[in-house]
Amino acid sequence: MNIGIIGAGAIGSTLAGKLVKAGHTVKIANSRGPDTLGDVAAKTGATAVAIADAVKDVQVVVIAIPLKNVATLPADLFAGVPEDVIVIDPNNYDANRDGQIAAIDAGQPQSRWVSDRLGRAVVKVFNNTLFQVIAIAGTSDDTTGGIAIPVAGDDARQKAVVIDLVKEIGFQGVDAGSIDDSWHQQPGAPVYLTDYDANGVRAALARADKALIPVNRDKGFVQFGQQLKADTTQADFIAIVRKISRTTF
Ligand SMILES: NC(=O)c1ccc[n+]([C@@H]2O[C@H](COP(=O)([O-])OP(=O)(O)OC[C@H]3O[C@@H](n4cnc5c(N)ncnc54)[C@H](OP(=O)(O)O)[C@@H]3O)[C@@H](O)[C@H]2O)c1
Repeated sequence: MNIGIIGAGAIGSTLAGKLVKAGHTVKIANSRGPDTLGDVAAKTGATAVAIADAVKDVQVVVIAIPLKNVATLPADLFAGVPEDVIVIDPNNYDANRDGQIAAIDAGQPQSRWVSDRLGRAVVKVFNNTLFQVIAIAGTSDDTTGGIAIPVAGDDARQKAVVIDLVKEIGFQGVDAGSIDDSWHQQPGAPVYLTDYDANGVRAALARADKALIPVNRDKGFVQFGQQLKADTTQADFIAIVRKISRTTF
């Protein structure tokens, strides 16, 4: 497939590399222009483009940027882009980074907020795991025997395409219902950063409690701050995050 990615940081560039390896043709954009993406292009095999070009002649668009910045993307970004182009939303709301967003604070699912800003349906996926885990999923560095991730969206065809894509890059995709249901996989939910297998993901989605999610998120983030150090190795980082998440969320 032809895939456009807006956002070339941890998530955008990790997905770019995995999708290129899986045989897809990938374009990638950031806010500063393709001239600033030479290293990312060389490392991932994606082609650096301007934002407007990332959504042209593609079947899938991934928007992987700080959530608040979705509101500042060009208003006409999707003008002329066919309705059947799938838009993937891996973004999470982080008030420390994004500032308070009243609608989300009041309970609107984060991906509904994103979808409303873009004026397009979205499929929510990749938000519940670390970019470091995406990097190793399906490789010999992933010793878990198979991690599953939730895939939420309102269009069954779009979800089926995305579930195939996530399989290609080393995960099992679990249908997690609609975008209105997608709070079940937001930060602090039992499925967040816990990297369960498919049965574990289904069970975690089922026990999510909307009122507890933000409370547990805040408790977990305090523990991340206490236990993750600048010199924590990648393997230890993943293990510590999983352990805290499995006991707190
Ligand atoms: N890091 C993770 O493990 C992880 C896991 C799951 C979900 N997420 C979510 O994924 C999203 C991206 O996170 P990240 O860690 O990849 O962030 P990041 O490393 O800070 O990268 C952000 C990228 O977005 C680009 N960007 C920012 N504003 C933009 C705009 N208006 N137009 C185009 N590009 C823009 C930045 O480009 P410039 O430098 O040019 O501005 C940069 O390439 C966030 O919503 C985050 O919560 C992250």
